[in-house]
Order: sequence, then structure tokens, then C-alpha cells
Amino acid sequence: MAAAGGVIEGGVVAGPVHEMQEWLRSLGAKRVFLAPLVGGSDLAFRTMCYERGVVAAFSPMLYARHAVENPNYLNLNLDTQPAENVIVQFCANNGDFFARAIDKVRLRCRGVDLNLSWTSKRAERGGYGEYLLKNPTQLESVVRAGVATQVPITCKLRLQASVAETIATAQRLEAWGVSLLTIEGRTSAQLDSRRGIANWEDIAQIRAAVGIPILYNGDLVVREQIEACLAYTGWFVRHPRNPPTFDHTKAHTATRSLPLTRANLHV
Ligand SMILES: Cc1cc2nc3c(=O)[nH]c(=O)nc-3n(C[C@H](O)[C@H](O)[C@H](O)COP(=O)(O)O)c2cc1C
Repeated sequence: MAAAGGVIEGGVVAGPVHEMQEWLRSLGAKRVFLAPLVGGSDLAFRTMCYERGVVAAFSPMLYARHAVENPNYLNLNLDTQPAENVIVQFCANNGDFFARAIDKVRLRCRGVDLNLSWTSKRAERGGYGEYLLKNPTQLESVVRAGVATQVPITCKLRLQASVAETIATAQRLEAWGVSLLTIEGRTSAQLDSRRGIANWEDIAQIRAAVGIPILYNGDLVVREQIEACLAYTGWFVRHPRNPPTFDHTKAHTATRSLPLTRANLHV
């Protein structure tokens, strides 16, 4: 579980970034994560995914502010199990709420994810997700407050207007101490797979420009897509005893719009 860190171990600074890397290493070579899905990635569904070869998952997005202000919010909305390989995702627009929410879940997860990809009227009203990303001063204060908790902080973002812009953002997040990034290979203008194919090539360029691990996201819905992405990124799939994800190939078209198997891949 995520714990405080920052000591020197054999010349390597053992802090949250190191802790995240060690944890990823412990997950083995084929790191298929379940993506965060409001109304989807609850414990029952996460368990089904683990049984089918998914090695870790993100919780559905929670509001950091509600976690702090409403004593029942986490009891009602967070269903992690002891020792589960889960990252809890929050949206936040304020560093103080983010840090206090992290403190409430730090013993229940491997890290905490900040949603920087949410695009909706609600996100815009609250200054969350992609709208936080557009406010660099506020973004820095939220991220730094999270990093200061010593819990590994991860961020999920979309491709921005250009690869160069996305790389600059990724490098800033890395410099502030973020441990891992999930990149959804679509811009907000594309919104979902009906309006644009996820661009793995752009994600690869971002991956090459940062030192922290990257999770690919987008168009990873059926097993063939996941295997194609693993092959693209250099992780050759050797057909393990448990298949990496559900085999929904026969219902590909029908399932594309449902949150059944959306995944992230760590490379
Ligand atoms: C029903 C549903 C709920 C989602 N909830 C979240 C969420 O809580 N947090 C988040 O960052 N993304 C959320 N997403 C986005 C997915 O995690 C993922 O980035 C997106 O679906 C792109 O993958 P795809 O190409 O498989 O659709 C959600 C998507 C769907 C369809």
C-alpha cells in the first residue's frame, strides 16, 4: 500500500516515484490495467477483470472535495479490497482537498490518480479534468499538494492540440513528481471512438520524451486491440493461461459503446 517515503536506499531515492516503479515491476511483463469507469470499474467488475488477466485497475472517479466533506462518501463509493492492486481516481480543483482526500485513501490503494481528461459541462463548471489542465497555476498547486502526501500520484490526460503541447504537459507533471501518466490517444474534440481512432503513435512520442511510465489508453476494448497494442509497444503476447481480457470479439460493434473492457496498457 502507498506509504510515506523519501529515504535513501543503496543510493536510490526511495520515494513515491520509485515505489510506483517497483510496484509496476512486481506486476510482471504484461501490464493490462482496467481503465477508470464511473458506473463501471466497481469491485465486482474489477474482480471479473482480474480473473481474466487484468493485473491492476483504477477506481471510478471520485470527488476529492466530497471525500473530505461528506463522512459517508467514501464508505458509499469506494469498495477497494485489502492488498488490491488498485489506484483510486479523484477529480480535484483544490490542492488542500486533494491532499486531505488522499490521506483518507492512502492505505487502501497503490496510488492516487488525478483526472485531467474529463470533458463535460460539469467538469467545466467545477474546473475539473481538462479544465484544470487549462489553468496551469491551479494545476501545479493541486499536483504538488498531492505529491507532497508521499503517496504515488498518477495523472490521466488526453492528447492536446499538438504532440509538442502534450509532451510539454507530461514533462511538467513529471517534474512536479508525478509517478505515472495515462494518455488517452484522442483529443477532447474527438471525445470517443466514434469520432476518432486512438493515436498510439502520438502516445509513443510522449513516452519517449519522459522518464516515468506511460499507460496507453483508447481503443483497447477487445482482446485483439489489446494484443495489437502490446505488439505495437514491443510487449509480445505469449498467450498466457488466462487471456488478457474478455473475448468480446464476436460482439465487437455492440460492445464498443459500452464500458465493458476498456483498458490501459503499461509499457
Ligand atoms: C461509462 C464510462 C465511464 C468512464 N468513467 C471515467 C472515469 O471515471 N474517469 C476517467 O478518467 N475516465 C473515464 N472514462 C474514460 C475511459 O477511462 C477511457 O479513457 C475512454 O473510454 C477511452 O477508451 P475507449 O477507447 O476504450 O473508449 C469513462 C468512459 C466510459 C465509457
